Amino acid sequence: MSWSPEKTTVNSWNEWDPLKHVIVGVADGCCIPPPEPALDAKVPEDSDMRGQWGPRPQETVDAANAQLDNFAKLLEDRGIRVDRPDPIDFSQAIATPDWETGSGFGCMPPRDVLLTVGSEMLEATMSYRCRWFEYLCYRPLLKEYYEADPKMRHEAAPKPRLTDADYRPDYLSDRIGVEKRLEWTADKFFVTTDEEPLFDAADTLRFGRDLVVQHGFTTNLKAIDWLQRHFPEHRVHAVNFPGDPYPIHIDATFTPLRPGLIMNNPDRRLPDDQRGLFEKNGWEIIEAARPAHNSPPPLCYSSVWLSMNVLVLDPKTVCVEASEVNQLEQLDKLGFEVVPVPFRDAYAFGGGLHCATADVYREGGCEDYFPHQPREI
Ligand code: GLY
Repeated sequence: MSWSPEKTTVNSWNEWDPLKHVIVGVADGCCIPPPEPALDAKVPEDSDMRGQWGPRPQETVDAANAQLDNFAKLLEDRGIRVDRPDPIDFSQAIATPDWETGSGFGCMPPRDVLLTVGSEMLEATMSYRCRWFEYLCYRPLLKEYYEADPKMRHEAAPKPRLTDADYRPDYLSDRIGVEKRLEWTADKFFVTTDEEPLFDAADTLRFGRDLVVQHGFTTNLKAIDWLQRHFPEHRVHAVNFPGDPYPIHIDATFTPLRPGLIMNNPDRRLPDDQRGLFEKNGWEIIEAARPAHNSPPPLCYSSVWLSMNVLVLDPKTVCVEASEVNQLEQLDKLGFEVVPVPFRDAYAFGGGLHCATADVYREGGCEDYFPHQPREI
């Protein structure tokens, strides 16, 4: 399938084929949401975000938008088409028949909401109440793609009820302690229950015929089963990463760079019994370089490991946050053209360069990178 900028086509099967069309988020109106079960379980116990909520200060929104706009321009200058979402008013209270909460979140990280698999763009269920309506920010773009591309499939996973039955009350405390959290997450005792399918799109990595999905706080086993039923031609693999006390979203933990090569967070090692898929098919899993920073920026949900939240433009070119000197050096030594992108001012709004994007078109088709399937991973 060849790319033409005049024609909109949805097509993306993996994380590394040449990128031609992408959505980049915006920081407008982003809020720190009020307490709610799954979100509280994720905010680190010593975070400066505890106890405060409401719209983020305008100067931080402006600084984040400046970096997002610069990133979008950099991609456009490389011939990549960039679209932007339409923010809704996130400061409004949100209610369904089952619950209400004081605000929404934002639309800086489209990767959390939209999963592109081939010609399909799937809206995730999401697992935080504050993110229940976030898909609306992407509907104008999805409508445009749907109208322009007769083969595009616009799908939405079943909207969840997100009642208290979805969350473990054990996590309703900010005094659990990291040791206990590490024990729980190693035992796959996460904040979300299996009451109904719950997933964020950023827990899934695409490897052609295989989808690798992190089981953690934001994606439960019922959703992984739902994804397998929804994509019957794919092989869906559940993975988890002991060592992460706040396991949400796979893309600061496990980062495919090109066919045969993945970076794994050395503090969140993929367990030996889950490595078969990669080892049997000659894929190398290397440890990512350590982050250049000791702490995340102020009012940020994410860890310092956004260092490895890179955006691969093609199997030889990768965008890395500009101050992440260790990560830049590691990828340079691996032979990549490394494109430094200043992005730390945007981190607090929902993550790094991978989080802030969602694929619309990458060249290439659906390949089988793992012809030897382990009996179980
Ligand atoms: N999983 C996102 C982070 O490490 O912050």
